[in-house]
Amino acid sequence: MLLKDKVCVIVGAASLRSIGYATAELFAEHGAKVVVVDVMMNEQVLDEIKSSINNKVIGPLSVHGVPCDVSKPEDCEALVQQVLALHGTIDCLVNSAGIVRSQPILDITESDLDLMFDINLKGAFFLCQSVLKVFKEKKSGSIVNVASLAAQRGGGLVGSSHYAASKGGMLSLTKSIAREFGALGIRANAICPAMIETPMLDGLSEERLRGIVDAIPLKRTGTTREMAGACLFLASELSGFVTGATIDVNGGTHMH
Ligand SMILES: NC(=O)c1ccc[n+]([C@@H]2O[C@H](COP(=O)([O-])OP(=O)(O)OC[C@H]3O[C@@H](n4cnc5c(N)ncnc54)[C@H](O)[C@@H]3O)[C@@H](O)[C@H]2O)c1
Repeated sequence: MLLKDKVCVIVGAASLRSIGYATAELFAEHGAKVVVVDVMMNEQVLDEIKSSINNKVIGPLSVHGVPCDVSKPEDCEALVQQVLALHGTIDCLVNSAGIVRSQPILDITESDLDLMFDINLKGAFFLCQSVLKVFKEKKSGSIVNVASLAAQRGGGLVGSSHYAASKGGMLSLTKSIAREFGALGIRANAICPAMIETPMLDGLSEERLRGIVDAIPLKRTGTTREMAGACLFLASELSGFVTGATIDVNGGTHMH
């Protein structure tokens, strides 16, 4: 049990096919008190999540759901207050909320750009800011931001320039938090997934997907469970001396 009784807030977890859900499931298997968060969170979604996790985990479970639009600072603040009211503390934030769009640069309008940055970058900023107030008080805590390969090599596979720029900003934000809060024992890290079997890949044609997979050294797409494994490492004390890091979880697609 790597996260026994740790209060873990996992944002972007509404779909059972998402990286966020897989992370919630794995964290629950490791004894965490899990709070699943999403703009799409409601009673029905929470029931589905609970029964799916119940199928995997033997023994008592702590799973709560909170709706939150990360692009709204007041929602992020309210989320933190709700978790504090429930559990009295927060030990870990995994931010996996995000949107992706595929558009050529010259077609991207100001409102396209605003939407992308509001959710992927400002959303990450507001969430981290709200949680860091708690972490600062208790002088501990771990943040895991789910960025993207697009942050490292530019858009092109699924998301395009505005998506890549938002995720690049997320990496810089993560490193800034690691520097600013490291002395307090607070850690912040990011993972950069690529080609993971989630709803984000639904728009790709079979032919396009085959072409992309051919170029991946491991010759397959990744699973959400594999992303969750990277998040578990970064959330737990296994990674106690790791901060400001970017972990590639991309089947070898991008090597430094
Ligand atoms: N699937 C991939 O191959 C891949 C690759 C690189 C990066 N990522 C990143 O992984 C993360 C998780 O994506 P996923 O693949 O699980 O897809 P997903 O679409 O299942 O998950 C994203 C979740 O974010 C939620 N969300 C969107 N806007 C929100 C808002 N304003 N407030 C709160 N929640 C909001 C969505 O409702 C959704 O449940 C994303 O940040 C994505 O950019 C995914």
